[in-house]
Amino acid sequence: MDGNGRWAGKRGLARAAGHREGGNAVERIVYAAPARGIRRLTLFAFSSENWNRPESEVQVLLELFRRSLRRNVERLHANNVRLRFVGSRAKLSTPLIHEMDAAEKRTASNDAIDLFIAIDYGGRWDIVQAARECARDCVESGTSPDDISESTFESRLALADVPSPDLFIRTGGERRISNFLLWYLAYSELYFCDELWPDFNVESFDRALAWFESRDRRYGRISAVVS
Ligand code: IPE
Ligand code: MG
Repeated sequence: MDGNGRWAGKRGLARAAGHREGGNAVERIVYAAPARGIRRLTLFAFSSENWNRPESEVQVLLELFRRSLRRNVERLHANNVRLRFVGSRAKLSTPLIHEMDAAEKRTASNDAIDLFIAIDYGGRWDIVQAARECARDCVESGTSPDDISESTFESRLALADVPSPDLFIRTGGERRISNFLLWYLAYSELYFCDELWPDFNVESFDRALAWFESRDRRYGRISAVVS
């Protein structure tokens, strides 16, 4: 979800206004997703690297996140959305963590769509914490590192139990993954568009989905074999 700051800048507004409008775009897309047959949606709300922004902007982002969570949790629940947060919780405030836990609990039995919010998330962080867990397993169980396979490693990742994304969308014109779901994006279709995130609407979303439908996914094989 890139381009909030530029959206505000173009209008002579503070970056915070762009983040607020970005929050409205999040709501538009989240509530539009189930009707489009989407069962899982993962939003990159705050990256491990976003801590390097000025302290005031970090505060704005975290406060908007908290307000949006508070404002939406009952509506998400009413829409049968299951919420889950992914990322390091080490630097988040205790009251925020409590609200995140409560929102996860409140929506735990919903099954229309799984909504993952990546907060203080980094693809490298995820891989490193999985590596640590695997190393710990080896030490504790006395097994050999040679027994670590792609699937045992994957079972230690933050989204171990979740199928990898089919489609990755980045708004705002940059053609980069920027440390999002690195491991899981191995076979995802990558969609980049120039629209700034606050301008991304349901029509933009449908364009991305239509593009996805046109892709031929071979997973290293050739078309005839896959079909
Ligand atoms: C993305 O918009 C918002 C988050 C980091 C959550 P940016 O803040 O990166 O906006 P630009 O790239 O400066 O326009
Ligand atoms: Mg940006």
